[in-house]
Amino acid sequence: MIDQTQLNQVSNSKSFEVPHPEALKASRFERWSPDSIAPWTYLPAYQNLTDDMKLRYNQLHACTVNELFIWFEQKILLPILTRLIAQPNQDPEFKTACEIFYKEEVKHSEMFRRLSKASASELYKKTDFYFFNSRLSISRWLMEISLKFPQTMSTWCWILIFFEERTLMYSKEYLKAKGQVSSVYSKVHHLHMIEEARHVQLDKYFIEKMYTGASDLNRRITAYILGKVLESFSSPKRMSKAIAKRMKLEFVRPEEHDMIDQISLELPMLKDNLDFKLQFFGFKSNEGTLNLMSQYPEFDHLKKYFLL
Ligand SMILES: [Fe+2]
Ligand SMILES: [Fe+2]
Repeated sequence: MIDQTQLNQVSNSKSFEVPHPEALKASRFERWSPDSIAPWTYLPAYQNLTDDMKLRYNQLHACTVNELFIWFEQKILLPILTRLIAQPNQDPEFKTACEIFYKEEVKHSEMFRRLSKASASELYKKTDFYFFNSRLSISRWLMEISLKFPQTMSTWCWILIFFEERTLMYSKEYLKAKGQVSSVYSKVHHLHMIEEARHVQLDKYFIEKMYTGASDLNRRITAYILGKVLESFSSPKRMSKAIAKRMKLEFVRPEEHDMIDQISLELPMLKDNLDFKLQFFGFKSNEGTLNLMSQYPEFDHLKKYFLL
């Protein structure tokens, strides 16, 4: 069982301030992301790109990660935490944990927002989301219901742990690539990791508290939505297509467009690429999520998305 009091104390001792925008200007001559978390690097056509194109793809990919984190924190996490905090007769330790969680996610979003604006101001003058477009689908609609009724429809617990464990994996890859990627991006992901490690503990607690004993309908909907989320992450086409579109604006020669088109054609191959799967869907990257999923038979059919 997770100890709330202990987690709250750790939070107070391990906290950080959002860096000033001036300190977040990453150099255009450096890579902003480890290759290991950049999907195109797993495709054969990636090797045909020029060095300039590889560098720019790397930077734009890092921008999409910023966007994804801001979106997740603002659109999924904060609405849930707001509702949990507002619930009457809440256990005070649990409420404090949610309040700390909330404050930290607000801070993280601000940090990634500043990072985007400082390092790629031309993309983020008017928006936080240049690449990201959250399409309304049936699974999205069901997820909205889960966000509105977090007590009775606790699907969100699973989205949280899957996603937050993934942010930890990203931070660890930044640590491994230290010295080979922008020190600005490395620092931001390191700061993020300090608080995310505890969030994953809290996510486990949410599952214990909110999902154990869930209704049959809740379980079936959760398995369906989680399947949709895993499917979209197993073949990340939408962000890649948005990056390809931007790359074509920056690299205008016909042969450069051909190279980018070739990448787009190869994107479906990611789903079956073993190295990609090992990085993103291997046991090490998803240990907490997988250990918990194995306790619930409704997720058995989702094992096919992982490399176990
Ligand atoms: Fe965060
Ligand atoms: Fe978090």
